[in-house]
Amino acid sequence: MDIPIDIFGKKLKNPLFLPSGIINDIPNHSMAVKAGVGSLVLKSITVDPREGNPIPRIAKYDSGFINSVGLRNPGLTEAKKQIKLFLEKTNTPVIISVFAVKADDFQRLVYEFSELCPLAIELNLSCPNVSDEFGEILANKADSSYKITKLAKKQAKNIPVISKLSPNTDNIGEIAKACEQAGADAVAAINTVSQGMIIDINKKRPVLGNGKGGVSGTGIKPIAVAKVYEIYEAVKIPILGIGGISTWQDAVEMIMAGASLIGIGSAVYEKGWNVYKDILFGIKTYMEKTNISQIKNLIGAAHEK
Ligand SMILES: Cc1cc2nc3c(=O)[nH]c(=O)nc-3n(C[C@H](O)[C@H](O)[C@H](O)COP(=O)(O)O)c2cc1C
Repeated sequence: MDIPIDIFGKKLKNPLFLPSGIINDIPNHSMAVKAGVGSLVLKSITVDPREGNPIPRIAKYDSGFINSVGLRNPGLTEAKKQIKLFLEKTNTPVIISVFAVKADDFQRLVYEFSELCPLAIELNLSCPNVSDEFGEILANKADSSYKITKLAKKQAKNIPVISKLSPNTDNIGEIAKACEQAGADAVAAINTVSQGMIIDINKKRPVLGNGKGGVSGTGIKPIAVAKVYEIYEAVKIPILGIGGISTWQDAVEMIMAGASLIGIGSAVYEKGWNVYKDILFGIKTYMEKTNISQIKNLIGAAHEK
């Protein structure tokens, strides 16, 4: 079932995508391809390999999950080989996500991965489980978000760059604007909400190996919708809306807030891979009933004209 949408000068078969990190290992992202996503974002890659945080790294609560994976990944050299193989095997457009705590490393990652010609490169400026060299999340500040985005754009050649933002700020519109001014081709929001904790009342200890983790899933949806709404008022570039989407109604809400593409992450853990087909069917039926011929006519519909 197709609901075509144009982004970065390319046509995607639908606006739904798998956000970064929901699947960890690169070859396993083929599950999202089979599920019919319009595009997908790979797990964030760092320059050096990372083992990740102590297990357990993810835990469920009644409205979603908390995770502290700690960017477990094989590192640039190995990831580049694996991603090259993955891209050769799939026709689904792929976005490569990169993470660093230093500007130099961001530049190197973007330079290396742009050679693989992905749909786009996403800058993870917002991982709540790893801090930058100053001990803060990069996307919490407009100036560091601007700086990293600008440097990345220079290395990306003609590959589009997406800046992924954190919800843990009260000025996300300003930060998104800074990314746009630095040349970002899109912004993605939101990363997980920082930080949550679940305590095992029998063991009297936090459940996660790392104690605290980023919160995802249905419980964060109103935060995500509000942040995307705010960004839409601040920028003209497309928004990838993510956070707690698990039904077609959620997806329509996110599109009306201003998102062009819709990320569905934690809902895959709750509902399985059919969630994409179910949401697409719901959006399509809604569009038919309300006489909307193109999904782009719904983007930002909740804003005053
Ligand atoms: C287990 C797990 C790992 C994640 N790893 C990454 C990551 O490596 N890079 C990133 O940008 N976001 C990562 N995220 C955040 C998601 O991409 C997404 O922004 C967030 O989960 C909100 O969407 P959701 O509520 O649909 O899951 C991760 C989320 C989860 C649950």
